[in-house]
Amino acid sequence: MRVGQGGTGPGVHTPDGSAVAMYEVSSARGEDELIGGAIGAESSILELGCGTGRITRPLLALGHQVVAVDESADMVARVAPLGVETVCSTIGDLRLERRFDVVLMMSFLINVADDGERLRLLETCARHVRPGGSVLLQQEVPGHRHAPAEMGDEHRRMVVSDVEDLPDGSQAATLTHTIDGRTWSQRILTKNLSEDHLTAQLTEAGLRLTSYLTPDRMWIKAQLDGPAPTNPS
Ligand SMILES: C[S@@+](CC[C@H](N)C(=O)[O-])C[C@H]1O[C@@H](n2cnc3c(N)ncnc32)[C@H](O)[C@@H]1O
Repeated sequence: MRVGQGGTGPGVHTPDGSAVAMYEVSSARGEDELIGGAIGAESSILELGCGTGRITRPLLALGHQVVAVDESADMVARVAPLGVETVCSTIGDLRLERRFDVVLMMSFLINVADDGERLRLLETCARHVRPGGSVLLQQEVPGHRHAPAEMGDEHRRMVVSDVEDLPDGSQAATLTHTIDGRTWSQRILTKNLSEDHLTAQLTEAGLRLTSYLTPDRMWIKAQLDGPAPTNPS
């Protein structure tokens, strides 16, 4: 388990506390359309933290080619049957020596609390996007996790509880999902990023923020800042 994170509930959990069985019964909620609208037709996409392929599936249906990466072998095993290339690796260690039209890192992975780890994630994005290509990131925005908060419908419910603001500016919270009578809880540790902080880290990784895809600034588009550096062998 990663520090400050953990998961409970039926089935296997990834090191970040995500429940494999929960993602297996979850489908896209508009993210695929947002991503599809921001990239060119038939793009090559490197998807970092693909989980069970909740978003991989609709991206393939839209005609894109996806290489799907996750550190959890249990997650990757759910994506392989889709016929895509899969890689079981932590994002920070990924070195494919190839570049893609699009590098997608969603699910608030950029909000990892540790600044050094966040830089490693962004460096991986920079190492794998082609000049002129896009890095798409999904970040937490202020107020995203207010407790007590409850949302959903008769089939699925998510409750945010036990929110704790920590001295280093990070935030811990418990997310409890109930889907058709099964319940999973995940303790997460995240850090909201000011625009200055985000911009500075993108620059350090060799990237440049080019636009926000949504008015709430949750979705970010970045590009290589200058010519592509030569990938180390
Ligand atoms: C919350 S799930 C979301 C999965 C998928 N993006 C989705 O939206 O359905 C996060 C996934 O990212 C993976 N993950 C988190 N941190 C990672 C890291 N540093 N390296 C590789 N995979 C990571 C987890 O194993 C998990 O499968």
